Amino acid sequence: MLYYLIRKILFLIDPEKAHKLVLKNMNTKIIQQLMKLFFQPIISKPVKCMGLIFPNKIGLAAGIDKNGEYIDIFSKIGFGFIELGTVTLLPQKGNPKPRIFRIPKLEAIINRMGFNNLGIDNLINNLKQSKFEGIIGVNIGKNKCTSIENATDEYLTCIEKIYCYTNYITINISSPNTKNLRNLQFGLLLKNLLKNIKIKQKEMSKKYKKYVPIAIKISPDLSKDEILYISNQLIKFEIDAVIATNSTLDHSSIYKIKKNQIKGGLSGIPLKNKSNNTIKILYQQLQKKIPIIGVGGIYSLNTAKEKIILGSELIQIYSGLIYHGPKLIRDIIKNL
Ligand SMILES: Cc1cc2nc3c(=O)[nH]c(=O)nc-3n(C[C@H](O)[C@H](O)[C@H](O)COP(=O)(O)O)c2cc1C
Repeated sequence: MLYYLIRKILFLIDPEKAHKLVLKNMNTKIIQQLMKLFFQPIISKPVKCMGLIFPNKIGLAAGIDKNGEYIDIFSKIGFGFIELGTVTLLPQKGNPKPRIFRIPKLEAIINRMGFNNLGIDNLINNLKQSKFEGIIGVNIGKNKCTSIENATDEYLTCIEKIYCYTNYITINISSPNTKNLRNLQFGLLLKNLLKNIKIKQKEMSKKYKKYVPIAIKISPDLSKDEILYISNQLIKFEIDAVIATNSTLDHSSIYKIKKNQIKGGLSGIPLKNKSNNTIKILYQQLQKKIPIIGVGGIYSLNTAKEKIILGSELIQIYSGLIYHGPKLIRDIIKNL
């Protein structure tokens, strides 16, 4: 009840401003007292995935804490793991504002942020100061000004920099808001990327005597053939996990409610079926050789269960947290 009251007030404010208002004021006494009502210890239901032991199956999806500034706050909500980023090699401003839009009737969010972030070095500094002992993933992308042909090199530099500071790395090739980024999901660009990532991972694990798994995050807007192709390449290059999915460019499910088109990736309930369909095809093709991390449209215990039944070993949440608050996380973990 309390969260829905707070949500009512926050939803009167521009989404990006509301997001900053809450997170930036977390350290004030009043907010900390209030937050205690939402804090809960991590519920321990350990699960092994990518060779790591996750305290439980539910993680924070990428995009909320792009710079790793709020790790300790999100760790107190009960998540078993937190994915930071997307972070890029160099800091960048992202797209002009406004760039986040809510559609409350559908519990949806449209965003065209464009990887606004303070760069990977800043994120590393924040990680060094964090006391969180759960699982942290860092999601990396390419800078806007880097050509798609040079993207692989940039991902490799980011892997090199972040390798020692994270439990797993996600390669984001599915954001709809960076021009041509999604091309990395196809043909030779994908093969070349995966081959070189794997070489870099081997080199790093030898150097640091530590194996850091690498996941690839894919789009919900792929055809069946494209999903099959990606699955085969993930198996061939022994990638550690696939995260399905990012937000969708297909807005057909919201036309009835929202006739004026808003450009950007759609998340939340209207994404659920597309995301689930992607997971279904992945699961059939991957045959448990590579774990799936399911994300997209989880807003209840049942929608979380759906993802697990379809073959996801872990799940992540973004929009559901905005619409239902930390209680959703608690309810899912307790009852899953
Ligand atoms: C405002 C916003 C920003 C996002 N930023 C990122 C991002 O930087 N990197 C990324 O991989 N996914 C990003 N996402 C996608 C989410 O991580 C997630 O894949 C997607 O929203 C589907 O999950 P949901 O339906 O639970 O929101 C973003 C989503 C939203 C709503």
